[in-house]
Amino acid sequence: MNERDSEEVAALLRARGYAFVDSEAEADIVLLNTCSVRDQAEQKAIGKAGRLARRKRKEPNFILGIMGCMAQNRGGAILDSLPDLDLLIGTQKFHRVPEHLDAMIQTMRGQGPRPSTIIDLEEEAGSQNTINSHDIDEDPKVSAFVSIMQGCNMKCAYCIVPKTRGEERARPIEDVVKEVRQLAESGTREVTLLGQIVNQYGIREFPFVDGKSPFVQLLESVHEVEGIERIRFTSPHPVGFKQDLIDCYGRLPKLCEYVHFPLQSGSDPILKAMRRPYSVAKFRSIVEKLRAVRPDMYFSTDVIVGFPGETEDDFEATKSTFQELAFDMAFIFKYSPRPGTTAEALGDPVPKATKEARNQILLDCLSAQSLKRNQALVGTVQEVLVEEPARRGENLFTGRTRGFRRVVFPGSRRLIGQLVPVTINEATASTLFGELVLGGLDNPSALHLVGSEKT
Ligand code: 5AD
Ligand code: SF4
Repeated sequence: MNERDSEEVAALLRARGYAFVDSEAEADIVLLNTCSVRDQAEQKAIGKAGRLARRKRKEPNFILGIMGCMAQNRGGAILDSLPDLDLLIGTQKFHRVPEHLDAMIQTMRGQGPRPSTIIDLEEEAGSQNTINSHDIDEDPKVSAFVSIMQGCNMKCAYCIVPKTRGEERARPIEDVVKEVRQLAESGTREVTLLGQIVNQYGIREFPFVDGKSPFVQLLESVHEVEGIERIRFTSPHPVGFKQDLIDCYGRLPKLCEYVHFPLQSGSDPILKAMRRPYSVAKFRSIVEKLRAVRPDMYFSTDVIVGFPGETEDDFEATKSTFQELAFDMAFIFKYSPRPGTTAEALGDPVPKATKEARNQILLDCLSAQSLKRNQALVGTVQEVLVEEPARRGENLFTGRTRGFRRVVFPGSRRLIGQLVPVTINEATASTLFGELVLGGLDNPSALHLVGSEKT
C-alpha cells in the first residue's frame, strides 16, 4: 500500500513538472514515505531523516518531507527531534503534496525567511478517491497496484493501522474500473487490488446484489476489462471470506490461483488475545474450500511470533498449522509493541531470543515448503507474464506464474507484457528457472494448452 501511495505522489509530481533523478544525492527534494507497523520501521525512517536533515544545514534550499503512517502516528512531535523538516504529510493527504511543495518553493523564491514546516495530517472525507493516478507515460507497468479502499475497522490488538489509516472507506466500483481500463489501455496486463481488508470492500457503502458482496461485484467488473489478463488482490481477512468469494476462483479465469491470506497465529487462545475473530479451524476450512475449487491454489501468509503470552505450546500450534497448510510464501514478524494499541498494556514479555528462535524456525519451514512446491514444477510448462529484464544475467528476463512464483528465463525485450509458456528446468525456494516453449509465442494453441492444464 505504501508503494502504491508513493507511486501516486510520484505521478502527481511528474504531472506538475517535477523531474526524478537517479540518486538521492542529486535530489533537491526528498520525501520519505513511512511505515509504523513495527517500531523498527519507524526507527529506520527516523535515522534516515536525521541523516538527510544534516544535509539541509549545508544546503538551505534542500527540501525534506516525511509522509505516511509515521507522520500520522507521531504528528508534530517529530519536529522535536527533526526541527528542520519542511513537510509532514498524513495518510489521507498524499494528493496535496504537489500544492504544498509549490507553495514552499514560492516562499523560498521570495527570498523571505525560511518557510515554516507544512503540517497536513487532518482526516479528509473522500481521500480514498484520490489514489488513482499512475505515471503511465513514463513507465508503462505490466503489473499495477490499484487502491480500492482506505482504512480498517478491525481492532487487532497489536495493530497500529486503524490509528494511522482511519476508518474503512471504499471507492465506487465505476471509478476503480475506469482506472483499470486506463491501465489496460496503457499496457498493463495484471492488476492487484489493494485494501487493508479487501473482502470488506464497500460493505457499509454498497448493497449486496444477488447474494454477492460489493468486493465480488468489483472483481466481476474488473474481470470484464479487456486487456487485463490477471487479477490479484491483497489482503483478505478470514472474516467475510464467504462462499461468493470462494466461487469466484471457479468462475473468473483471470483471478489467479494465489492468495495472500494472513493467519497471524495458529493458536486459538493467541488469536483471541490478538482480537482476531476466527479460529484456526475456520481459517483451515477456508483454505480447504479454496483448494477444493482450485487444487493448484498457492497461499502466502503473515504470522506474528512472540505476541504477549505466546507459550511454547502456542508456538508449536502455529508451527504445525503453518506446516499443515503448507504456505508457499510468508512474512514472519517478531511482535513489536505499538503505542495506542490494546496490546500495548501487555508489554513485551516474550524474550527477544525466543522471538528470534521462533522466527527462524518458521523461516526454515517456509524454505522447505517453498522449495518442495517449486521443485514439483520442474518439467511442467507454466504461463508466465513477462515483466522486466532480470537484475543479473545477459538477455535474462523475469516474470511470474499465475501462482506468483518468480521465473527467470532467456528472452527478449519484445516479450515484456506478454503471457508466454515457459518450461521449468530448475527450482530454488524463491525462483524458478526455465526456457520459452519453442513456437509457443506464435502458436496460440501452445498457450491454450497451458491454460487448459490449469483447470
Ligand atoms: N508487531 C509485529 N507485526 C505486526 N504486524 C502488524 N502489527 C504488528 C506488530 N505490532 C504484521 C501483521 C500484519 C503485517 C502487515 O504486519 O502480521 O498482517
Ligand atoms: Fe491491522 Fe487487523 Fe486491520 Fe489488518 S485487519 S490492518 S492487522 S487492524
